[in-house]
Amino acid sequence: MTDRPSILIARAIFPEVVARLRGHFEVEDNPGDQIHGRAELIARLHGKRGVIATGSERIDAELLDANPQLRAVCNMAVGYNNIDVPACTARGVMATNTPDVLTETTADFGFALMMAAARRITESERFLRRGEWQRWAYDMFMGCDVHGATLGILGMGRIGQAIARRGALGFGMPVIYHNRSRLPAETEAALNARYVDKATLLREADHLVLVLPYSAESHHAIGAAELAQMKPGATLTNVARGGIVDDAALAAALRDGPIAAAGLDVFEGEPQVHPALLERPNVVLTPHIGSGSLRTRRAMADLAADNLIAALSGARPPSLINPEVLAARPA
Ligand code: GLV
Repeated sequence: MTDRPSILIARAIFPEVVARLRGHFEVEDNPGDQIHGRAELIARLHGKRGVIATGSERIDAELLDANPQLRAVCNMAVGYNNIDVPACTARGVMATNTPDVLTETTADFGFALMMAAARRITESERFLRRGEWQRWAYDMFMGCDVHGATLGILGMGRIGQAIARRGALGFGMPVIYHNRSRLPAETEAALNARYVDKATLLREADHLVLVLPYSAESHHAIGAAELAQMKPGATLTNVARGGIVDDAALAAALRDGPIAAAGLDVFEGEPQVHPALLERPNVVLTPHIGSGSLRTRRAMADLAADNLIAALSGARPPSLINPEVLAARPA
């Protein structure tokens, strides 16, 4: 028998991080990376005080009520729309995420996706691989410029600002943005960024990048009506969450205009991808890998572990989403 807390690592993660967690806890891990169905996840959590989760695990009131011993839910992701945070808070469960460590890597990827869409990188590569490249032509895969074009950002948090910095400093792009709150004047000046309303953002951006969190309010923030307002020839890039874009409406806009191309790393109902998107040549599709550099994924796993170790040892987790839980704790 041991009085060390038990934890579940819901998905496969770095063995070194699993080993580190074994130094603190009784660990049930998932080296085969099975996706636990809902009932199985709830059952595997029985007796566990903490869980390292990913976006694939929905942590809600039902799951928490079936596991009242659970004290900490530690996401290995910055987004936490898979966690019902008020339900955690109401039950005294700490919820944590992995901000900051993935900001620059995700911004690199967002910028790459935008460039790939604008310059038709994957579309032209598929043409070449199909053996269809017989001769050069002046109008072959003409795309749109990135340098000097207007970069639009919806959701100007850490990742949005890192993308804006790349555009402003590296590519001479004027930046316009829309966000719940406006940035301080000196940050706007450093990013060459101008705050605009959403309609202006849609109307003026040559390349619109979405970096806002998913919530009921941001569901289908970009649908048919918004796409119709975009500039002819513009691109749309989503590195935030599926569901922010209405994928069916986007597929129609990629076919009928006004936009020229899109870059998507996230999808409604992923890992399923809307079949109409798969049919469009002018969309770059990647399987939710925005933070996927080796160094960053390792940093995310380490931070999720730091959060769990702190949470179950009575310390404040470094990236606690619901600090109200600490205030409610008995002294
Ligand atoms: C990835 O999507 C994350 O939220 O970290």
